[in-house]
Amino acid sequence: MTDVKTITVERRGRVGLVTLNRPEALNALNLELMTDLVAAASELDADPGIGAIVVAGSTKAFAAGADIKEMVSKDYQEMYAADWFAGWSRFTAVRTPVIAAVSGYALGGGCELVMMCDIVIAGENAKFGQPEIKLGVIPGMGGSQRLTRAIGKAKAMELILTGRTMDAAEAERAGLVSRVVPTGSVLDEAMSTAATIGSMSLPIAMMAKEVVNAAYETMLENGIRFERRVFHSTFATEDQKEGMSAFIEKRDPEFKNR
Ligand code: CAA
Repeated sequence: MTDVKTITVERRGRVGLVTLNRPEALNALNLELMTDLVAAASELDADPGIGAIVVAGSTKAFAAGADIKEMVSKDYQEMYAADWFAGWSRFTAVRTPVIAAVSGYALGGGCELVMMCDIVIAGENAKFGQPEIKLGVIPGMGGSQRLTRAIGKAKAMELILTGRTMDAAEAERAGLVSRVVPTGSVLDEAMSTAATIGSMSLPIAMMAKEVVNAAYETMLENGIRFERRVFHSTFATEDQKEGMSAFIEKRDPEFKNR
């Protein structure tokens, strides 16, 4: 399988390993990375020789969110016309079980990508959160819907309204992750879990994934579409420009409430 710039793709037996590879931006999810990741996951999904997929980042960051530099100057019309983030629905359409191997930061879109995966193995150094509010936006890749389902309303509200991050132990208690392991063992644990799943019947594993998702996703689709539209509309505000510019300029934002 070909390696592309923003990710690397390997096959190890019946496991497909996709590693996010934008270290200079802590694996921020720009359009190119999303396109590459979705294409790689779809290709592995179509391959009957692959029984499970692992998505991993680096030790410092699984992914630090959607790419703020790519979005900062966009306006509402552009976000809406491009239906920004809609491409992620091809990732959640993957039928092969997907395991997230999470070390370091899984923030914003990074946390949302984690929640699109079926099983989450986290290192002790993992940090989860939805800090979008600090940038003058809201989650736009499903976070408001999936986090609320994963950890409940009160905790999801607190994280989304304050931008606070959770460490791995809190995330495990809250039900966001399947298992916490020593940071150095994350990939091995994820690969061995994937190999176990890969040893099962692939159609039966797909069916098992589909029925668990049916319990989890009923009415989720409408919520995701609603969230994406409201996310796009944050780009009609001055505070989105201020919040994202302030991050890039490494200063505190001065929100004007408009
Ligand atoms: N987008 C673009 N670039 C990013 C980025 C992002 N989400 N996160 C980090 N980077 C870049 C930084 O700008 C920096 O680049 P330069 O060297 O060119 O300055 C580089 O990655 C390293 O980052 P830091 O110097 O900030 O590293 P740190 O160790 O001091 O801090 C961090 C790490 C706490 C994760 C910090 O980078 C951070 O807060 N990142 C942003 C997190 C965030 O707000 N994510 C949400 C994005 S919006 C979103 O995801 C919307 C949605 O719902 C999908």
